[in-house]
Amino acid sequence: MSYDKNWAKVDLSKVPDIKVTPPGPKSKALHSRAERHMKGYSSQVRLFPVAFESGHGVTLTDADGNKYIDCSSGIYVTNLGHCHPKVVEYLHKYVGQLMNCHDFTTEIKVKFLEKLASVTPGKLNSIQMYCSGTGAVEAAMRAARAYTGKYEFFSFYGDFHGKTMSAVSLTEVADYTSGPRAIGHHLAPNGHCYHCHYGKTYPECNLFCVDALERQILMEGTGNVAGVVLEPIQGWKGSIVYPDGYLAKIRKMCNKLGILMIDDEVLAGFGRAGKMWVVDYDEVIPDIIVLGKGTANGFPCTGFAIKDEYSGALEKISASTSYGGNPMACAAGLAAQEVIEEENIVERSAKLGEFILSKLRKMKDEHKIIGEVRGKGCLLGIELVKDQNTKEAFIEAGQKVYQKAFKKGVAWIPSKNNLRLSPPLIMEEDVAEKALEIIDGAITEVEKEYGY
Ligand SMILES: Cc1ncc(COP(=O)(O)O)c(C=O)c1O
Repeated sequence: MSYDKNWAKVDLSKVPDIKVTPPGPKSKALHSRAERHMKGYSSQVRLFPVAFESGHGVTLTDADGNKYIDCSSGIYVTNLGHCHPKVVEYLHKYVGQLMNCHDFTTEIKVKFLEKLASVTPGKLNSIQMYCSGTGAVEAAMRAARAYTGKYEFFSFYGDFHGKTMSAVSLTEVADYTSGPRAIGHHLAPNGHCYHCHYGKTYPECNLFCVDALERQILMEGTGNVAGVVLEPIQGWKGSIVYPDGYLAKIRKMCNKLGILMIDDEVLAGFGRAGKMWVVDYDEVIPDIIVLGKGTANGFPCTGFAIKDEYSGALEKISASTSYGGNPMACAAGLAAQEVIEEENIVERSAKLGEFILSKLRKMKDEHKIIGEVRGKGCLLGIELVKDQNTKEAFIEAGQKVYQKAFKKGVAWIPSKNNLRLSPPLIMEEDVAEKALEIIDGAITEVEKEYGY
């Protein structure tokens, strides 16, 4: 199909456009009706309860007609922009043709599987599809258990892998679990250089944290460790990027211990971080890669890919589900993968990310409450601190900056004192620059309020 390559162009004289202070009356009315029934909101919504009506490319429109620059992409999902014409067209076709047929084969599924297998790292060619990132993580862990015959997993401080019982047990946030972690689920200190758990400095540390991880696995594990599950860049915790060589050293450690490396790229994959996969930076091939969010640009379509030699495990775990790999998901997924290739999305993400990061670095030099700015590709973050030396978290400022910038037209993502930016990868630099100006202004206002 052909479509106007400028379909997502933004006229900056019209966006952002805040007609009524948000959340406006229509947003408020809708949200209060929703809230009567639904209670479990994320902080992204709780701190800014606006109701959205539509999205186009890199902009969002709320129920009161306010227009925002989207620096959230849903939540790292609509990487190619809202309602990308190719995704819409492929989806339309299958909405009217075949919505579900369990895990029977369809032509669109075959095409999508072949496409996915051509982009997964190494020879991870055995694929299973799901409709949530969490479901895919859980199934990947079950496959790892089935293959290894072992049941323990190690994950990392700050990791997020989903909210079902096993996935949440590999997640830092204790209040999701209201009780002990599931048996055999362990967390280890990660290679977070800005807040090094061991008080060391990279690269002189020689990635001591991975040596410590190895010791922990040997001491805390009971000889039944199936694998390490990791976020190659931590999203929820605040876009935490690991130092060069970290993932490669973990790969080596897994080989040495004979355990699997399960790479959860639900959030970071498909070009979000400036390479197709984050593990590409370290030229690492995991044993299992988990896919989500950007897979189908908004249509619920996730999965995992595993080496062919482990694929017997997929039969053992009875891997099929009701919706996984349904024709609409495969159509949206195939369209998204074609667009990633045709529109050089991975390169564009790297370039836009570098542009944004250079502006963020400048911003850091000008603001006392910015402790660190970081990211790869368009997976970016700002950490706010009360003092650049003590690095004490400035949580109140995080909330205020988030709200103030949103009010002026930047839709983005909070995480306590970390602010997260995940613009659609198709955003033009001038649009990103406008969003950053608004964020900069919000930080200045908050600094003034707190007397910095
Ligand atoms: C790294 C990672 N894994 C898994 C998940 C869970 O995905 P979902 O919300 O689609 O279940 C998320 C969601 O944010 C994630 O960031």
